[in-house]
Amino acid sequence: MPPEFLSGGIYVPDRPERTPGHHGTFLRKAKAGLPAVQAEKDITDLNQYIMDQKLYVFDTTLRDGEQVPGCQLNTIEKIELAKQLEAMKVDIIECGFPISSPGDFKSIVEISKIVTESTICALSRAVEKDIDVAADALHFARRKRIHTGIGTSDYHIRYKFNSDREEILQRAVAAVKYARKYVEDVEFYAEDAGRTENEYLARVVEAVIKAGATVVNIPDTTGYCLPEEYGAKIRYLFDNVPNIDKAIISTHCHNDLGMATANTLAGVLNGARQVEVTINGVGERAGNTAMEEVVMAIKCRKDIPVKTDILTRHFYKVSHAVSTLMRMPVQPNKAIVGRNAFAHSSGIHQDGVLKNRESYEIIDPVDVGVNDSTIELTARSGRAALNHHFLRLGIHMNKEELDSAYDKFLKLADCKKEINDSDLYIIAGVTQDKLKQRMHLKYLQVVCGKNSIPMATVKLIIDGEECVATSSGNGPVDAAFKAVRSLVHRKITLEEYLVQAITRGTDDVGQVHIQIENKGNIYYGFSANTDIVTASVEAYVNAISKII
Ligand code: KIV
Ligand code: ZN
Repeated sequence: MPPEFLSGGIYVPDRPERTPGHHGTFLRKAKAGLPAVQAEKDITDLNQYIMDQKLYVFDTTLRDGEQVPGCQLNTIEKIELAKQLEAMKVDIIECGFPISSPGDFKSIVEISKIVTESTICALSRAVEKDIDVAADALHFARRKRIHTGIGTSDYHIRYKFNSDREEILQRAVAAVKYARKYVEDVEFYAEDAGRTENEYLARVVEAVIKAGATVVNIPDTTGYCLPEEYGAKIRYLFDNVPNIDKAIISTHCHNDLGMATANTLAGVLNGARQVEVTINGVGERAGNTAMEEVVMAIKCRKDIPVKTDILTRHFYKVSHAVSTLMRMPVQPNKAIVGRNAFAHSSGIHQDGVLKNRESYEIIDPVDVGVNDSTIELTARSGRAALNHHFLRLGIHMNKEELDSAYDKFLKLADCKKEINDSDLYIIAGVTQDKLKQRMHLKYLQVVCGKNSIPMATVKLIIDGEECVATSSGNGPVDAAFKAVRSLVHRKITLEEYLVQAITRGTDDVGQVHIQIENKGNIYYGFSANTDIVTASVEAYVNAISKII
């Protein structure tokens, strides 16, 4: 649509894709209100314009999401996830904080060479050296963005920087100007904006936009805001920052009070046109805003006047990949991607869904990639059939991986009636992880039961050598873990031990997540098996193998 003045003085700008700022002009003009004589057609055009507005999706799973202690990803894992994020049409992928570690730097370099459609973003503080390193890391990126910023709340200004508002404002401006020397696309974050006084925040936003910021991020760093308050903060900026139409305003909400999705949507409803999110809502403490929740809310609520380009059918698969690679189980009742998200157990609900799915479902599970139909895979299926199903799920295996996965599949098919997509994801994840492991569980026997002393014998292969130990304990898992520890001669503390059934039924696969501590470092282990004691010991061995 060409730029056009509608009667009544409402300016409807054209909608160049990926041009920051145009919505700001629109919102300011529209905010003035429609004159009483406004024709009905104009209102329809206006609504259509609003409906067509693009919301940029900025994924920070690989940066803020990955800050969870013990969930760090290596470069190969980050590349794998970045490819999946690009395939689902994420607009911007924040891949790391390059000055913080050589691993982050390397990941950004490698992802920049491979991902060409999404913009690659690198984080920095408002420090010249950080920005130099970020620019360096982004050297190969086809589309690149530097994300720089500084704390703007009085807590940060006084206690973190021992500074004052004027000095922080100058540092913010200087950082944006410096980053603009390297790249055209510079995003500024006002850390702890959620607790920053609005008047000062508006001054900072105006100044950084003037300095060249194309996107301004308003993080609720501590997850303190309530939705109405966060929405009002964004609205305040649109009302009080004269040059706000020159930049995109972004949300970045943490989930400490369980408000991240609500706050993000409140931000969008008040003019924000970029959302910073992570898959499964992973992130430090209570996590970040979950991408799948925001995108699906926008998709199924027609009264939220924006659209994203996200291919939502990828959600289930990407959620699995993040959960497996980060060793972070998805809670069963997690919105959109939890295993119970579409499970109707009460008779009344089942009856209603059978008569008309929409009686109890607001989202078609197929829209988020949940395929609830049972896959025709049996113990008689061959490698080709298995590989066909892996490929259907977007899992690519080399010959060695497929052979190993096939062995696991046959064992599972022997003791489980239905092999479903979740089982296949588990088989793939465990296989690809195990092949890299230097220590394996070869044999396990446990004796336990009422009025008996639990005993376990384990045989481990450590760098090709077989070693055996037997131990007693207060249960079969305790006994087996003691036996394993006696073979690895390390002080290991079990920090977390979580067993989950994938679907239902006593023949189901149990997945086990384990967190251990050794010399102050945290290591994660994962396994899945129809025998939960075996799964537990395998997960324990998987975690310990990362130490050795
Ligand atoms: O939560 C936060 O404030 C951040 C910034 C570094 C963007 O993650
Ligand atoms: Zn954050």
